[in-house]
Amino acid sequence: MTTNPATAEHHQDEARAPGKPMPVLPDAQTVTSVRHYSDRLFSFRVTRPQSLRFRSGEFVMIGLMGENGKPLLRAYSIASPAWDEELEFYSIKVQDGPLTSKLQHVQPGDQIILRPKPVGTLVHDALLPGKRLWLFSTGTGFAPFASLLRDPETFEKFDEIIVTHTCRDVDELTYSRELVESIKSDEMLEELLGVEALGKLRYYPTTTREQSGTMGRITTRIEDGSLFSDLGVPALNPEEDRAMVCGSLAFNLDIKALLEQAGLREGANSDPAEFVVEKAFVG
Ligand SMILES: Cc1cc2nc3c(=O)[nH]c(=O)nc-3n(C[C@H](O)[C@H](O)[C@H](O)COP(=O)(O)OP(=O)(O)OC[C@H]3O[C@@H](n4cnc5c(N)ncnc54)[C@H](O)[C@@H]3O)c2cc1C
Ligand SMILES: NC(=O)c1ccc[n+]([C@@H]2O[C@H](COP(=O)([O-])OP(=O)(O)OC[C@H]3O[C@@H](n4cnc5c(N)ncnc54)[C@H](OP(=O)(O)O)[C@@H]3O)[C@@H](O)[C@H]2O)c1
Repeated sequence: MTTNPATAEHHQDEARAPGKPMPVLPDAQTVTSVRHYSDRLFSFRVTRPQSLRFRSGEFVMIGLMGENGKPLLRAYSIASPAWDEELEFYSIKVQDGPLTSKLQHVQPGDQIILRPKPVGTLVHDALLPGKRLWLFSTGTGFAPFASLLRDPETFEKFDEIIVTHTCRDVDELTYSRELVESIKSDEMLEELLGVEALGKLRYYPTTTREQSGTMGRITTRIEDGSLFSDLGVPALNPEEDRAMVCGSLAFNLDIKALLEQAGLREGANSDPAEFVVEKAFVG
């Protein structure tokens, strides 16, 4: 059972001498649901601060109260879209990780800390208009795309949206597979955008260590052209293609090199261009 910061605070208050100022739990939000996918992955939803505005694809700092009484915070992509009344996160479980060794035990009703200062580069504003949007992810790097894929703007801006997700094993693809399936049958999005719009979305999962329908690193499949022949689309080109990338540092560097080789330039909020990159984790 994780430390419930609210409960910990309450006990401190009981022991506090009269007249001393009461500590205020900083930026607490309540967990509303939790789902475990494996011993390495889980997702959870929390209440959303009324004042929090963010752009789909951005990240915030979240965490728990540490044993030293100071907040233990880490960067997390918001996996839910900007219009959702709750916030969703998709998380790794690092067994000896300072935060996730505890965070993996949260239950509905527990509180987490959420600093309401969203930032990030995986946003529509950082890309120039284009025909086709590529979302390249590995592991929990799919999280920001779970947000963008549920945002109507993504479907309004592009004729085709291709999301790739590469993991070691098949079960690590569960979250992305189910999310894409749920979008394709989402009545609200269908009503808002039309049934053809949802047909723009294509999902390209690959595994590298366990046998599956499509094997191999996505970088290899870009280099040998099988990604494009499988999907029946032209090779990457700066006229039509825009891309967002989220994975390990090594993955990001390798994809970035391939995108630049194809003539795409890296963009930023202040200087939109053809692709943007963000780390899914440090180390
Ligand atoms: C911009 C940004 C956005 C992020 N968004 C997410 C997110 O949406 N979901 C998420 O689970 N994590 C995300 N992270 C990573 C997150 O900040 C923490 O590192 C993670 O929660 C583990 O925290 P920890 O304290 O348990 O371990 P840490 O001390 O932070 O990490 C220990 C080690 O575990 C490995 N590790 C950490 N995070 C991951 C990961 N996500 N996938 C695989 N290996 C990892 C690394 O080798 C790292 O050195 C993000 C990081 C950045 C920089
Ligand atoms: N995933 C697990 O089952 C597992 C279990 C225990 C511990 N861990 C540890 O957890 C950490 C993170 O593991 P992770 O699996 O979440 O993330 P990861 O190591 O970044 O791998 C995720 C996926 O990205 C691919 N990939 C990695 N680098 C790439 C690159 N430069 N170009 C293209 N594709 C690339 C991997 O392929 P490859 O397989 O070819 O590398 C894998 O399919 C690692 O330190 C790992 O040792 C992982």
